[in-house]
Amino acid sequence: MLHRKKFIISLSLFALVLTGLAAFRPQDKKPKHNFKVLPKDISHDDLKKVMDGWCQALGVKCGFCHAPSADSTSHRLDFASDAKPEKNIARSMYKMTGKINKKYFSFNKDEKGEVIPAISCITCHRGNPHPGEVK
Ligand code: HEC
Ligand code: HEC
Repeated sequence: MLHRKKFIISLSLFALVLTGLAAFRPQDKKPKHNFKVLPKDISHDDLKKVMDGWCQALGVKCGFCHAPSADSTSHRLDFASDAKPEKNIARSMYKMTGKINKKYFSFNKDEKGEVIPAISCITCHRGNPHPGEVK
């Protein structure tokens, strides 16, 4: 009898440990990223280069595309949020730019035969977020 009780106790302890482990899985602590056009495994440095490049091309700051954090006491931006429509427009601009390069500029190759992107955001934007406006 005692033997069986011990067995049940250790079984429930084991179950407790398992639930505990499940609650602290390392992937739960990772910040959630929200990449739909850039490579999901992009390095921090490369991401910074892309974002700085977009800021320069459009003549804007990060907050042009990124919404403020939902926590109003924090003055940070919530980079993963899609709340600002400009962020999704930027995604479709990125896809459009890639398509134009592939479809119309594939002759643009370096000596190794690698395609050099002929156009980029700055080709149209030239430091202006609204290149379509005619003044
Ligand atoms: C023209 C719009 C635009 C500007 C300006 C911009 N970003 Fe972004 N950013 C995006 C888009 C779009 C994505 C998501 C890319 C994707 O879906 O693959 C993104 C993603 C990010 C992410 C990753 C968020 C995540 O999901 O983990 C970070 C961090 C980030 N941007 C930082 C910055 C910083 C810092 C600046 C200013 C230096 C900046 N961005 C300027 C459009 C912009
Ligand atoms: C072929 C030309 C062209 C290229 C290349 C291009 N854009 Fe655009 N983009 C436009 C035009 C035109 C508009 C509309 C501007 C307006 O509202 O006057 C626009 C609008 C936008 C807007 C919305 C601005 C707003 O407030 O309405 C964002 C954001 C943007 N582009 C980001 C980008 C990014 C990021 C890239 C590069 C990945 C890029 N664009 C490449 C032509 C281009």
